[in-house]
Amino acid sequence: MPTPNTLGNSGIFPVSDSVIAAASARLRGGGIVAVPTETVYGLAADASNAQAVAAIYRTKGRPDFNPLIVHVADRAAAAKLALLDDRANALADAFWPGPLTLVLPLVTGARVAAAVTAGLPTIALRCPAHPAMRQLLDSCGLNLAAPSANRSGGISPTRASHVARSLGEAAPMILDGGPCSAGLESTIIALRLDGWQMLRHGPVTAVDAEAVLGQPPMPVTSARIEAPGQLASHYAPSKPLRLNALNAAADEWFIGFGDIVGDDSLSLKGDLAQAAARLFDALHIADATDRARIAVAPIPQTGIGLAIHDRLNRAASG
Ligand code: TXA
Ligand code: MG
Repeated sequence: MPTPNTLGNSGIFPVSDSVIAAASARLRGGGIVAVPTETVYGLAADASNAQAVAAIYRTKGRPDFNPLIVHVADRAAAAKLALLDDRANALADAFWPGPLTLVLPLVTGARVAAAVTAGLPTIALRCPAHPAMRQLLDSCGLNLAAPSANRSGGISPTRASHVARSLGEAAPMILDGGPCSAGLESTIIALRLDGWQMLRHGPVTAVDAEAVLGQPPMPVTSARIEAPGQLASHYAPSKPLRLNALNAAADEWFIGFGDIVGDDSLSLKGDLAQAAARLFDALHIADATDRARIAVAPIPQTGIGLAIHDRLNRAASG
């Protein structure tokens, strides 16, 4: 066992060059580190190290049929793991680095632990935009498998403090890169032989992707669970959640939007991007109040509002 130093221990560390170097050493040694991205905080490990990947699953308490997203520094790193066709390259040109994950055919001999793909012939890849995550990818020289850094089924973390609260004693070293700017998990698009599918709604909308791909998405019909975003209950707070509320009962913490002010507001000016960035923080805050239930004001179902609805519906069926 390497001797732990202060930076190798758990705790929240604001990003600096020395903190990145310590995190990098930890990852190269097979450890796990909680990292900021522009979507949500991730629980990262070397994607080629089976034991490190097993530690991610253990820390999250995640059922092992859920495959993980692999974060890459650039297109060249992606091409060593997956087959990128013209459509994949066009999407990467348009949205990488950024909040888009592509599900692509896995190349034979790809250096990735079997648990990452959970036995699928495909792999989910994302090139993230957050500067601290980019610096970490460059510094460690690894591809990093990273699911959201919360206990499985819980609310996704958009601040370092959310990670600490959700993982508790199991939390590893947490790099604090500030609040996540997009605030919702990446959009997941699968490229199939006969078209493309939207496996998870997110900051890159179906309309954005269709503009690049020139055709609408195919429906997602697979009975097999490919994205836990497809599990009915996910992102769930510990309290009952009521949607489309115009007002709230005395025992409800009321999350407003636009003209409906509430106890807290996703966006007083009714801005959907701001609401997306604040959603999980607002749910974490609501969960921590002494009110027994949570109510959320109506949110328009356009643009990123669709992804907000997707997360709220799953949170409400928790
Ligand atoms: O924004 C994000 O994507 C965050 C940050 C940390 O990058 N990560 C994230 O990871 O949300 P996670 O593990 O919570 O969600 C990964 C999703 C799951 O829905 C999983 O089933 C899906 O990706 N996935 C992974 N590999 C897949 C594959 N080969 N085919 C289909 N879905 C896949
Ligand atoms: Mg998650």
